[in-house]
Amino acid sequence: MHVLGIETSCDETAVAIYDEQSGLLAHHVYSQIATHAKFGGVVPELASRDHIRKTLPLIEQALSDAKLNGNDIEGVAYTKGPGLIGALMVGATIGRSLGWAWQVPTLGIHHLESHLMVVMLESNPPQFPFLTLLVSGGHTMLIDVHEFGNYQMLGQTLDDAVGEAFDKTAKLLGLPYPGGPGLAVLAESGNPYRFHFPRPMVSHPGLDFSFSGLKTYAMNCFKEYGQDEQARADIACAFEDAVVDTLLIKCRRALQQTKLQRLVVVGGVGANKKLRQRLQHNLVSQGVNVYFPRPEFCTDNGAMVAYTGYLRLARGECDSLAIDVRARWGLEELMTR
Ligand code: KG4
Ligand code: ZN
Repeated sequence: MHVLGIETSCDETAVAIYDEQSGLLAHHVYSQIATHAKFGGVVPELASRDHIRKTLPLIEQALSDAKLNGNDIEGVAYTKGPGLIGALMVGATIGRSLGWAWQVPTLGIHHLESHLMVVMLESNPPQFPFLTLLVSGGHTMLIDVHEFGNYQMLGQTLDDAVGEAFDKTAKLLGLPYPGGPGLAVLAESGNPYRFHFPRPMVSHPGLDFSFSGLKTYAMNCFKEYGQDEQARADIACAFEDAVVDTLLIKCRRALQQTKLQRLVVVGGVGANKKLRQRLQHNLVSQGVNVYFPRPEFCTDNGAMVAYTGYLRLARGECDSLAIDVRARWGLEELMTR
């Protein structure tokens, strides 16, 4: 079954074609970073306009790469939410219209579920059940994934998401948006012993997170010491260490609580090298297998939508002609879908 996937929930226009026999046949991502960088963050109206410009040309390119034409597509999946409402509307309208024109089933997909499932496209995917740490620009969550479609939320952030904390701290350090990758590069030349940032909420029981205090800590440090390049690098390093340690401590606690032996890390911050190395290093020795999607599938992409779309369309799920996108949409609501 050839499924076209369309992702337009935020500032990446992404499309892909997945087939159960041949796997991923094509995938393309157009990043709008250059459009938004001068504003220091995503401007929703500009995001929608760019999705309008880019989605159809990307679909044409994906079809041509896969040596297919529209008549070969047997299902269309698009991101239905959560995300920016105007941006979601573009992908949903294009996806729904193509589905109608091609007379194939069409389905709106949950953005977070697609982040969770993309790891299944790797060569050594985890078996269910597993624990997932989802760390992106908008979300920080620990989820017990019993099986496909059956999720239990164990903990989430009470304020900023991890990616958001990376981006805000990076902005403070004078790095361009989105600052997560740039902060990670700056941290490489930092002295890990100069500053010690707190590990928020680790002495509280439970699995929730809070990252807004770290950003304030970084700001105070920056005001006092951040005049030169080395101080900026040292702050970046201390911030990154605090985030990574906090995530490690909470993952370890969640693994003990659930008795799960497999951890999957997904979402944009899952591309962070220090996080990948430290989780691998500390958890593998405790008998836990750790799985990551390839870095390009940690950030938003079309492959995750095409694959998750395939899984649900193959079960016979399909939306009506009405287009219904959701800016907010809890993952647990999928259980009652
Ligand atoms: O999953 P994603 O592409 O979009 C959302 O759904 O939010 O995640 C984007 C977030 C941004 O905050 C970005 O700064 C962060 O992921 N990010 C990173 C790295 N690469 C992306 N944060 C830290 N280190 C990285 N290497
Ligand atoms: Zn995302």
